[in-house]
Amino acid sequence: MMEYLLYSTTMTASEKSILHELLSLAEGSIDGFRVAAQRPPFVDDPERPENPPEPGAGFSDLAELGEAVRACVSCPLAEGRLNAVPGEGPADGRRAPVMVIGEGPGADEDATGRPFVGRAGQLLDKMLSAIGLSRAENCYIANIVKCRPPENREPAPEEAAACRRFLEAQIALVRPRAILALGRTAAQNLLGTSEGINRLRGSWRDYRGIPVLPTYHPSALLRDEALKRPAWEDLKEFRARLDELLDGQ
Ligand code: URA
Repeated sequence: MMEYLLYSTTMTASEKSILHELLSLAEGSIDGFRVAAQRPPFVDDPERPENPPEPGAGFSDLAELGEAVRACVSCPLAEGRLNAVPGEGPADGRRAPVMVIGEGPGADEDATGRPFVGRAGQLLDKMLSAIGLSRAENCYIANIVKCRPPENREPAPEEAAACRRFLEAQIALVRPRAILALGRTAAQNLLGTSEGINRLRGSWRDYRGIPVLPTYHPSALLRDEALKRPAWEDLKEFRARLDELLDGQ
């Protein structure tokens, strides 16, 4: 059957769908050419038992996810927000090799709808730039919760849990090679641990097969200069491992 011969197992399911549609269009104009009514199954189809869907990845892209975040009223933080802050990265939607995860929006982020744009954000941009990373180029920035907790308090466990599906979907869509977790709240929530940040920082962990390096939150660095040196060690370690991961692809 002609249509089966034209597909390749190295193509993604979406590429196969496009090809299938094109073939279906051709059906009307080529005599005797027939295409199956349904796109045939292939090895990377998510419905196959060996390819389970990524949990939380119920969104087709980051733009759709952003809309859902802005419409979300799943927890009380929605009541106090000016703007929800879904996340930001290169051309919003392209895959980024790195994901940076913070705690939650502060006043500046709430006012603008963009993550890490206040003082801590400016320091974060400098830290990332020192290891060749930027949100414009290669780094997707998100938070554990997408709405500002009142008086910048730590997000409550129920608030983090209500937002979890968005974070999981972001990670599934961005598919970063490595994640930098900023501060105790981000690291503990992402990794499901109660270990303190002094123990977590600088030690590689794993989130669903993606290497995660916890480090200090830039706000902590602004409060305590002494944390800058260990944070810099963490950043250099992050860059070195990232280079290895990117080399080996
Ligand atoms: N702190 C965070 O954890 N996230 C932001 O977006 C801003 C400050």
